[in-house]
Amino acid sequence: MIVRILCFLFAVLLTANICNAGVPSSNSNEQAARAFLKEASTKFFEYNDNLAQKQFQMYEDDSDEEAANATYKNFFAKAKLTVEIFEDSKKFDQSKFTDPELKYVFENFKKSPGVFILGEENLSKILQSLTLLEELASDKDIPSYHNKSIDLAFFPDIQEIFAKSNDPAELKYYWKTWRDKNGAWATSYFVKLIKLLKEAAKLNEITPLQLWLDEYNITEMENVMTQMEPFYLQLHGFIRNQLLKKYGDLVIKPKKPIPHHLFEQVLAQTWTSGSIIDDKYPHKDLPPYDEILKQNNYDTLKMFKMADGFYRSMGFNSISEEYWTNHIKMNSNEDEGDCKAMVFDESPNVYLRYCQKMDFRKFLQAHGYMGEVYYAREKIDLPAYYFDSYGLEYPVGEAVILSASTPKHLSSIGLVTQFRFTDEVKMNRLLRMGIHTLLNARVYFVHSKVMADLFAGIVDITDLNKRYWKLMEKYVGVAPPNNRGPDAYDFPFKFYTSLSANGNEQASKFMGEVLGYQIYEKLCEISGQYSKSKESEPINNCDFYGSEKAGEALKKMMRLGSSKPMREVLATIFPENPTVNADSLIKYYTPMKNWLIERNREDNVSVGWRHSKKKISIVTNYDDEELVPLK
Ligand SMILES: *[C@@H]1O[C@H](CO)[C@@H](O)[C@H](O)[C@H]1NC(C)=O
Ligand SMILES: *[C@@H]1O[C@H](CO)[C@@H](O)[C@H](O)[C@H]1NC(C)=O
Ligand SMILES: *[C@@H]1O[C@H](CO)[C@@H](O)[C@H](O)[C@H]1NC(C)=O
Ligand SMILES: *[C@@H]1O[C@H](CO)[C@@H](O)[C@H](O)[C@H]1NC(C)=O
Ligand SMILES: *[C@@H]1O[C@H](CO)[C@@H](O)[C@H](O)[C@H]1NC(C)=O
Repeated sequence: MIVRILCFLFAVLLTANICNAGVPSSNSNEQAARAFLKEASTKFFEYNDNLAQKQFQMYEDDSDEEAANATYKNFFAKAKLTVEIFEDSKKFDQSKFTDPELKYVFENFKKSPGVFILGEENLSKILQSLTLLEELASDKDIPSYHNKSIDLAFFPDIQEIFAKSNDPAELKYYWKTWRDKNGAWATSYFVKLIKLLKEAAKLNEITPLQLWLDEYNITEMENVMTQMEPFYLQLHGFIRNQLLKKYGDLVIKPKKPIPHHLFEQVLAQTWTSGSIIDDKYPHKDLPPYDEILKQNNYDTLKMFKMADGFYRSMGFNSISEEYWTNHIKMNSNEDEGDCKAMVFDESPNVYLRYCQKMDFRKFLQAHGYMGEVYYAREKIDLPAYYFDSYGLEYPVGEAVILSASTPKHLSSIGLVTQFRFTDEVKMNRLLRMGIHTLLNARVYFVHSKVMADLFAGIVDITDLNKRYWKLMEKYVGVAPPNNRGPDAYDFPFKFYTSLSANGNEQASKFMGEVLGYQIYEKLCEISGQYSKSKESEPINNCDFYGSEKAGEALKKMMRLGSSKPMREVLATIFPENPTVNADSLIKYYTPMKNWLIERNREDNVSVGWRHSKKKISIVTNYDDEELVPLK
């Protein structure tokens, strides 16, 4: 178990924008600088390949302590190398460079060491904090509501209860008990982590906010939120009204924020039969996707081969048989919960590990993971210091998933053939997708914003819970089910598990969602499957499978890596407006928005909410004892 967790953390950590390797030179001329970069790149790729192989190996056997130790060793070796090269790069007099590209590379060197600059001892404390926070979800320490002698874990036990139970008292109990049990404990590790990250920023001579946000722009994200707001208000009003019908006005008020435990249930039930829209569009009317996969003799390998076929159809170079054998493997260890695949893509020598679970969700996700593999392979000619791609592999994967999940695609690949996708079925699908996307995007933003406020010094750590609820009310329209005391930090477990040392997973998820729709629309246009002027068919059934033109557009972007600023990279695919915005997302869900407006009018639903009266205290109670460094 611990090995699995550490693997995850390493992968997250290593997605940082890190360059370099090499031998210093006192010579400040440009030729020496170029030689230095070349050597640094070679060495860095070598270390990355080494580490990727070790991580890949670790999945062969969960109890292989030797492999875990080797991974640790490689990880710290890489950290040390990174810092050494960073120091060496300072020996060049950058002010004398005339080549703008050289200036650009060295400018970016400044942020290269990230948390690695902390050194082994403090770095290992970061890993330890992250590991312990990761365990929040899997520890069985919450007494069952119905039988206090049974202990449950958040994932999967409580998550399943949230999807199934219709007892608001039970949901509230788990909401509160999990937070009471974990709040103070999580807080102490969270606080330690924040301290260390601030320390790293200081050593890097950048602000903590710069370290945390990296290339993400919180103002731009906020603009996206504003753009989505009218649509979200309609969805929020609809959800609150449905919950009111389901649970009554003792539990939920028609003009107040939605109690958070019920909001969490709405998310947990999106794709199940208890969902908020089941009285209008029953879950059972959707195609039985999981069954269909079984009937078509799918196994996990076949899922990934089908996903691979999508990219090949767009003209990407096929992956060789040798590659399938040695670089892409199923975990041999036991399947745990909602196991996730892992891509080790820090060099063109990319590796992929997937787990044994097989269902429709995993089938779609496979398209995202294969996207990461193809993205890394397209960057084969780039040096290590350009190899990062601003997290753009996620929206690319999202765009392909949107295409792969359309009724059109599923019919055309012969997977769903006996099923008629009526307008009702299409709306059923669209509503569930929309609920999932919109609710999550709002939450990802709040998580990003609260951390940005913390690192910018706008709020103190003791005020963080107050701030969190203020933002949750403002942007999501939810409130805690009861007053929150001085030892409550109420972030959900997903917030903690997506923390990483110098990556910002929540911001990248937000960007992945929003940009995913932008890329999808663009590829639909390029492939001729959708035209802005014709509006013949709604965009949400467009499938760009088989379009080499769309493939070319993607490749052009992929091959740039981070050799240009993010906006310029985006400009290859969005020349007319290379910003992150919600236009495509809103267009995609237009039928849903119209439907919501209509329902809300019929039901006399007033949208928006008044302030919550719940009291949130300043947090004062948390353990501040020192961590013992890992060896
Ligand atoms: C792994 O490292 C730990 C701590 O350094 C050590 O106690 C253990 O013996 C090592 N295990 C193996 C198999 O090398
Ligand atoms: C509660 O769970 C324990 C342990 O599984 C079991 O022995 C006991 O019978 C259960 N009690 C009730 C009331 O179901
Ligand atoms: C580790 O970080 C702390 C701050 O959290 C700092 O005081 C300490 O000097 C650091 N230790 C090392 C070995 O750098
Ligand atoms: C962030 O985005 C806003 C809005 O698009 C823009 O005005 C601003 O210049 C951006 N900031 C940075 C640092 O790029
Ligand atoms: C909405 O309000 C109108 C006018 O007050 C009323 O006739 C109608 O019955 C209401 N509809 C619902 C579902 O409450």
